[in-house]
Amino acid sequence: MMVCEYKPGLEGIPAAQSSISNVNGLDGILEYRGIRIEELAEKSTFLETAYLLIWGELPSTEELAKFEDDVYHHRRIKYRIRDMMKCFPESGHPMDALQASAAALGLFYSQRDLRNPVYIRKAVVQLIATIPTMVAAFQLMRKGNDPVKPRDDLNYAANFLYMLTEKEPDPLAARIFDVCLILHAEHTMNASTFSARVTGSTLTDPYAIVASAVGTLGGPLHGGANEEVIGMLEEIGSVENVRPYVEDLIARKAKIMGFGHRVYKVKDPRAKILQNLAEQLFSKFGQDKYYDIAQEMERVVGEKLGHKGVYANVDFYSGLVYRKLGITTDLFTPIFAIARVAGWLAHWKEQLAENRIFRPTQIYKGLHDQPYTPIEKR
Ligand code: ACO
Repeated sequence: MMVCEYKPGLEGIPAAQSSISNVNGLDGILEYRGIRIEELAEKSTFLETAYLLIWGELPSTEELAKFEDDVYHHRRIKYRIRDMMKCFPESGHPMDALQASAAALGLFYSQRDLRNPVYIRKAVVQLIATIPTMVAAFQLMRKGNDPVKPRDDLNYAANFLYMLTEKEPDPLAARIFDVCLILHAEHTMNASTFSARVTGSTLTDPYAIVASAVGTLGGPLHGGANEEVIGMLEEIGSVENVRPYVEDLIARKAKIMGFGHRVYKVKDPRAKILQNLAEQLFSKFGQDKYYDIAQEMERVVGEKLGHKGVYANVDFYSGLVYRKLGITTDLFTPIFAIARVAGWLAHWKEQLAENRIFRPTQIYKGLHDQPYTPIEKR
């Protein structure tokens, strides 16, 4: 068998053939099923985009209405899942709570039928519908409150914000949140999507797939970065502190959170859209010094690291937007998961259509023919 050159992180090695999304990292272009992200952010909704990603085409009016209706009517979570979540330690991270709850959902639907489109659709609806409810339920229960029931008259984004706060959100806030979900719904072969495809390739159930992808998304080099961005902006504290802070990180060769991307060598197109949304939010709901710090940071990092292709990524502005919407910092990554479930499920379907179990190779660098030393002689 031919052994290829080893690439740490599998950089540049195709892991699948896909027609779900495409990134041109040099020109800063992202497309879902061939449609530019800017157009979807302006004209679509998260549920319509999820449909596009998963079934490959924009839905007709009837298809979209049916999908929305199905999702809206499956948003309640089973009381056993709620009771299980009540026992989670309140100090635990909501991503861990989400991972456990998504896996637990599989206990209720163990009759896997991967060749049946009806089973696939049901699983898609169940996951897209219940993941936000689980995130909101854990948030309320860890504060000692009962979860808020979903409201059938509110759309996907508005209902999530309502379940978090028990207040009907401002329409601009709900629309901006929905656009954030569109922007995070899919992004080619990133770590969590790869994880979803590897798990899916074993023909396990979609709940296990989402649970494994949630675990992968949680790390600070992937979805966890937006949480760290806010911590960093708070630590910086003022516009004057930005330059020395950035210079110190660069001198220590530390990574600046919210900057850099394996694929984009220009500003992430999603960061541009988010920056614009942040401006709208701040002008409607009041200015915030963290926005000024962020802008100065972008300027200084561009000056210092632009020559290496390091610019703001999606996580840099998403944290600022969520913070302004009053969302607790450790919910940022679970919100990323709410959106990315759409992409994971699209990749699951695509993987099933031409499945071959993932089984890469390795380059063995260990010893051979070693003697077994009895324990008393070690
Ligand atoms: N801060 C400082 N330097 C950086 C950063 C950064 N955030 N990102 C890249 N660089 C440097 C690298 O150290 C490298 O320097 P060198 O050539 O002197 O060795 C150079 O820029 C080129 O790096 P790349 O190869 O382009 O970056 P890589 O693919 O290794 O890393 C990654 C990408 C992991 C995202 C990195 O940029 C990073 O850790 N960023 C901070 C965390 C972050 O924001 N993650 C979210 C990513 S988006 C997402 O997951 C949704």
